[in-house]
Amino acid sequence: MKEKLEAIKNEALKELKEAVNKAELEGLRVKYLGKKGELTQILKGMGGLSAEERPVIGKIANEVRDSLENFITEAAEKIKSVEKENKLKSEIIDISMPGKKQTIGHRHPIDLTLRSIEEIFINMGFTIEEGPEVEYDQYNFEMLNIPKNHPARGEQDTFYINDNIVLRTQTSPVQIRTMLNQKPPIKMISPGKVYRSDAVDATHSPIFYQVEGLVIDKGITFADLKGTLEMFIKKMFGEGMNTKFRPHHFPFTEPSAEMDATCFVCGGKGCRVCKGEGWMEILGCGMVHPQVLRNCGIDPEVYSGFAFGFGLDRMVMQKYGIDDIRQLYESDMRFLNQF
Ligand code: DAH
Repeated sequence: MKEKLEAIKNEALKELKEAVNKAELEGLRVKYLGKKGELTQILKGMGGLSAEERPVIGKIANEVRDSLENFITEAAEKIKSVEKENKLKSEIIDISMPGKKQTIGHRHPIDLTLRSIEEIFINMGFTIEEGPEVEYDQYNFEMLNIPKNHPARGEQDTFYINDNIVLRTQTSPVQIRTMLNQKPPIKMISPGKVYRSDAVDATHSPIFYQVEGLVIDKGITFADLKGTLEMFIKKMFGEGMNTKFRPHHFPFTEPSAEMDATCFVCGGKGCRVCKGEGWMEILGCGMVHPQVLRNCGIDPEVYSGFAFGFGLDRMVMQKYGIDDIRQLYESDMRFLNQF
């Protein structure tokens, strides 16, 4: 019996020394000390021993159990600390490794140009107004003196949402919204996207930007219009710039004009961009039509005003020497990174 206990102890210690993880250790604990374990079986069989043998063997058996238990506890501690060390090693962070570089973006050329335009007009006392891109036919056309069968509708190929709602074809409806919501004096510009169902090519995009302007007060004349727009052009493109006005027609202004400015590519000498003219067509403008004022509840006998509108994209393209409008909307990083 005594030899058997010794043999179990030695065998168990040998196996325990080889255990490398918690599961193996637990397996051995069950094998020797568990309910059906080898040592337990022996303790159970002690009833068959003589009265003299029993305490002796019992003592040895208890010693074997204690020493195995102690060994298991110690081994468990060791395994735990080895596992912890391994975990720390595998999670090591090399702080000397170079980091991931964050690339910082920048403003789009349209936004850059728009900001300088806004700054110029804000300095002249204008406010910035906004209107929706999904607009009532009523505001986009009707109240601007463009009734259902007017030829101007044909020129602005319109995306219709339904009979009464369109994607705005121009920023001019913001004139209507502003006059309906504010009392004169009004002095505002309104930049934003407009939509026309044009086929896409180098100079046409179904989405593009316009900037609208509106000034309403007592005693506003065409001289105010000319002075304001000339000031804008000089601030935007340089003091050497000149402007000239040609008669034109817009349904919502009377009289109406188109304004040209000195070609800012060649300075007026004539080049490829201005097709040898020395001038560039910049915008449409005019004195707000009395009927448009009346449509918005403003008495044309008391108030007068001027309005203007221009396409932003062409200005951006000329400013940066971009020859294809599609590049402004394609989000190609190779193109955008240049600005
Ligand atoms: N809305 C016109 C267009 O899209 C541009 C325009 C012309 C706006 C004359 C105006 C204006 O405010 O007075 O072609």
